[in-house]
Amino acid sequence: MTTDPLTQFKAAQRDAWATFIPLTSFTIMAAASLVDFAEVRSGQSLLDVACGTGIVALTAERRGARVRGVDLAPALLAEARQLTGSLGVQVEFHEGDVEALPFADSSFDVVLSQFGHMFAPRPQVAIDQMLRVLKPGGRIAFSTWPSTLLMARLFELVGEYLPLPAGVAAPAAWGDHAIVRQRLGDGVRQIEFNYDDTTVPALSPRHLAVALEAAVAPVTQVVQRLHEQPARLRQFRERLDALIGEYFSRNRVRQTFLMTRALKR
Ligand SMILES: C[S@@+](CC[C@H](N)C(=O)[O-])C[C@H]1O[C@@H](n2cnc3c(N)ncnc32)[C@H](O)[C@@H]1O
Repeated sequence: MTTDPLTQFKAAQRDAWATFIPLTSFTIMAAASLVDFAEVRSGQSLLDVACGTGIVALTAERRGARVRGVDLAPALLAEARQLTGSLGVQVEFHEGDVEALPFADSSFDVVLSQFGHMFAPRPQVAIDQMLRVLKPGGRIAFSTWPSTLLMARLFELVGEYLPLPAGVAAPAAWGDHAIVRQRLGDGVRQIEFNYDDTTVPALSPRHLAVALEAAVAPVTQVVQRLHEQPARLRQFRERLDALIGEYFSRNRVRQTFLMTRALKR
């Protein structure tokens, strides 16, 4: 059994994200926006990093790209393969860590990640790997949650109850333009940002909170952690519902996301 905190963190992530499958329907619409923003074209070789159930990969495949996906969680990859088979298309899925991508240098024309690479503990290692496997002149693009809006605020709330281990960066920082620019560094040119919205159906803030508690690893982990502390769990849930309530209206929760794109030098 390893005692290295980062290895332990990733092992926990690998298992915890297995529950994400039901939320796939919430990421489908956003995937089309990212694939558009990345200007994916027929014949390009493309990698979907932290692909989960393969939503971005399959969207890009429909545009004619030759696609591979990579993710830490075997349960999500099994779902991705099943979905791919049921759609009658070809996408290769690989188990792997964004901090050690199992591909040769300069393998892809396009490298994408939707709400994925932002969960790697070391952002600079993750971005360096994504740029390493990208061809010179190729495009990197990713979607993250803006620092001041719902999902980033939710991760900050989770962090108050379940602090991240030492050496693990906060995912919310990926929603800040200046931080994103700094992490992309001098290895890229033409950094551009854009925003889009996606809408999640819900009967009430608690209805969405229940789905997040069941399917989004950091939220699931905090609820498990607070199981023995009912008063704190109740307080966490009240704050979670109040936060979601700020974005809830007429059975919809509006989520704005940030897209970033750049070209490798
Ligand atoms: C919010 S889900 C997004 C999944 C998918 N991209 C989508 O849009 O539906 C986050 C994903 O990041 C993956 N992930 C987290 N840490 C990772 C790492 N270090 N390397 C690869 N994948 C990772 C999880 O397994 C999970 O599939």
